[in-house]
Amino acid sequence: MLQNALLAVAITLLYFSRHYSPLLAAIGFCIIGYQVTDALIPRVSPSFVKIGLFGKDLSKPGRPVIPESIGAVSAMVYLFLLFFYIPFLFYKYLVVITSGGGHRDVSVMESTHDEYLFPHGKMSEYLSAVLCLQSIVILGMADDLFDLRWRHKFFLPAIAAIPLLVVYYVDFGVTYVLIPDIIRKWVDTPRTAVNLGGFYYLYMASMAIFCPNSINILAGVNGLEVGQSVVLCIISLINDSLYLTLGTEASKEAHRFSAILIIPFLGVALALWKWNKWPSKVFVGDTFCYFAGMIFSVVGILGHFSKTTLLLFIPQTFNFAYSSPQLFGLVPCPRHRMPRFNENDGLMYPSRADLIEHPPQKVMVPVLKILHALKLIDIETDIKKNMIISCTNMTLINLVLVWFGPMREDKLCNRILTIQLAVGLLAIFGRHVVGSLIYGHDNIQFL
Ligand code: UD1
Ligand code: MG
Repeated sequence: MLQNALLAVAITLLYFSRHYSPLLAAIGFCIIGYQVTDALIPRVSPSFVKIGLFGKDLSKPGRPVIPESIGAVSAMVYLFLLFFYIPFLFYKYLVVITSGGGHRDVSVMESTHDEYLFPHGKMSEYLSAVLCLQSIVILGMADDLFDLRWRHKFFLPAIAAIPLLVVYYVDFGVTYVLIPDIIRKWVDTPRTAVNLGGFYYLYMASMAIFCPNSINILAGVNGLEVGQSVVLCIISLINDSLYLTLGTEASKEAHRFSAILIIPFLGVALALWKWNKWPSKVFVGDTFCYFAGMIFSVVGILGHFSKTTLLLFIPQTFNFAYSSPQLFGLVPCPRHRMPRFNENDGLMYPSRADLIEHPPQKVMVPVLKILHALKLIDIETDIKKNMIISCTNMTLINLVLVWFGPMREDKLCNRILTIQLAVGLLAIFGRHVVGSLIYGHDNIQFL
């Protein structure tokens, strides 16, 4: 009953979108995406297990086997939604009368609400986004199937981003960044922007690597991969709404594009979350982590607000920086750094890296002691031998456990998501207040 009502709402939104705004169609596709993904997941999951795509839930008694890589279902539904979305975005360019032979005789402007529609040139950007997201799904699936080595899979997103960067080069090609007012006054230059040239492409490729990987390594607790993506959607959409209501014309277009990609993603992600949240019935796989991260990179790159996108990723950036001693081999990094599940009390405890068998680099010993003094890690020391025998794995998840003590897996996930939401909202607020101070202006008009 509720499903039919929701479907009716979605179809109504799709119908009226041509008269009002493509954003209505995005909400319609969000609802359809949710329903289709939710219906598909239980139906296709057994087939994933049959071909060996399953994983053990390491934080449950008996370590039950669960279908893995189910994020691929959300990703495929999302990509199909993006295909079906094309006529809703670009219908004003549809050819309605033709004399045949492939002639485009008359194309009719069907709407008077022209200001809500994308110009045709946006289509190349849109298709490059689709191509880039398709590539990341293929590479993500390769990782889930072959369990690639970390140092190899780390760079996969940069390869998937090639279509995006090439279209950016051909179509837009802007490689200038604004110089903050403070720096302009300091170096006393009249220039307002600096051309980064090829470095700008390097910066965009780094962003494409960073966002997917940073979601993938903030993982290991039921629901966290999808939950953080949902929170990222919410914060992004709040930011987009600010621009769409109060922004300048140029920023409105970029943020409309962002909302158009993110709203349908929210639908498929929420359906996946329903099945992945504690106690998980499916795992999302690296396909989903890469795919989700790539959506935010694409939106930031094509919308030309990649610095703001990075602000939304503050918790993931912290987790990445905090993890770096383990990621770069200065401190041993076990295959899984997720918290340790204690079957006796059902709670999660910080997991540890064994430093006896695999001692850390010498330079890290004082660093570990300082981190311990700052309560950023917990260490175990052998007083007789005056050596550190273990330290907690350096992830935000373990850090939350070090700070707040052991807790149940769902509580832990919710605590991290709450921190992420609070930090994200503060970041947006800071972006507009501090941004207007640093750059001397802001592109929303009430500040
Ligand atoms: C990343 C992390 C790793 C973490 C893992 C958890 C780094 C460098 N890598 O590795 O530390 O342990 O994600 O996803 O930080 N699993 C659960 N419960 C969950 C989620 C996953 O038990 O809620 C287990 C399952 O056995 C599942 C496996 O983790 O099969 C998936 O791990 P995978 O995504 O392949 O790990 P990585 O992304 O390589
Ligand atoms: Mg993973």
